[in-house]
Amino acid sequence: MNRVLAHTGVRYPIVQAPMGWIARSQLASAVSNAGALGVIETSSGETEACAAEMRKMRELTDKPFAVNLPLLFLRDAKIVDYVIESGVKFVTTSAGSPAKLIGPLKGAGLIVYHVVPTLAAAVKAVDAGVDGLVVEGGEGGGFKNPDDVSTLVLLQAVREKVDVPLIAAGGICDGRGMAAAFALGAEGIQMGTRFVSSAESPVHGNYKQAIVDAPDTGTVMLNRKGTPCVRALKTQTSLAFAEAGVMDRSALKTVRDLYFGGDMEASVGLAGQTAGLIHEVLPVADIIRHTVEGFHAIRRAQGERSAAGGF
Ligand SMILES: Cc1cc2nc3c(=O)[nH]c(=O)nc-3n(C[C@H](O)[C@H](O)[C@H](O)COP(=O)(O)O)c2cc1C
Repeated sequence: MNRVLAHTGVRYPIVQAPMGWIARSQLASAVSNAGALGVIETSSGETEACAAEMRKMRELTDKPFAVNLPLLFLRDAKIVDYVIESGVKFVTTSAGSPAKLIGPLKGAGLIVYHVVPTLAAAVKAVDAGVDGLVVEGGEGGGFKNPDDVSTLVLLQAVREKVDVPLIAAGGICDGRGMAAAFALGAEGIQMGTRFVSSAESPVHGNYKQAIVDAPDTGTVMLNRKGTPCVRALKTQTSLAFAEAGVMDRSALKTVRDLYFGGDMEASVGLAGQTAGLIHEVLPVADIIRHTVEGFHAIRRAQGERSAAGGF
């Protein structure tokens, strides 16, 4: 039995990543309706707006969805009550120690997975009592650990030391990536860059097109010596920050002008290395279907070769 499916109640063990302002009901309901797990973000810090998005999900889908609680960005403790009231059964916590929230969330009957970028963080989260982990490598888009470990290595390191179910994140955008993650011990995958460039994503067409156009070397890690450290698309603006070696937090204040206004130089456009693998904007249902079909085709072909004693 796949434990991620058992914990989430969805048909496919595919999770849409939380992304500030982007991971709201328009995108998340499309993902949930297609049989995967839509996630509502709260990292924007807009507590009431995010609570309204959770209520809206009930109108847009009768399927399960989840909420992400990034501990460092939570401005209002009320958000935890809103999550519990919303009736979601599954939350991911991130950016900080989950220890304080595990009691109230699990006490209310929720399943809690914590997002970890290192083996040490994984072991700590499991000791704190989480039900599972989202194991997130440095290839992914968005906020990153400056001391980054690739998903390929991190998954193996974590699988070796802990027994809880793992969702792999960072660097996955299709069935090939999903099959690779499962070979390394994951029971689910989370995708951010793939879904931000989907038809139902609320971001401006310029941003989706910039992801489609980006080569494999099209992203850059910014601010390794400061906070936040992020992976973003290479643009004049992001390359200037890379050259300077630092990026003030205030650079993200205008990120909505980039996300929704389409001004690619207004801030930095968060995206992962899979931008180099994404060649078209697709509807969410097609992304999920292609991913599941690609996953099974690879596993079948490999299984047949192995059964025949080949490679
Ligand atoms: C546009 C974008 C915005 C993101 N915003 C956030 C955020 O606000 N909070 C967060 O914890 N992670 C954020 N992330 C990281 C994602 O949750 C996810 O872990 C990551 O995208 C997975 O890697 P992938 O992009 O290779 O799929 C963001 C990622 C992207 C691409």
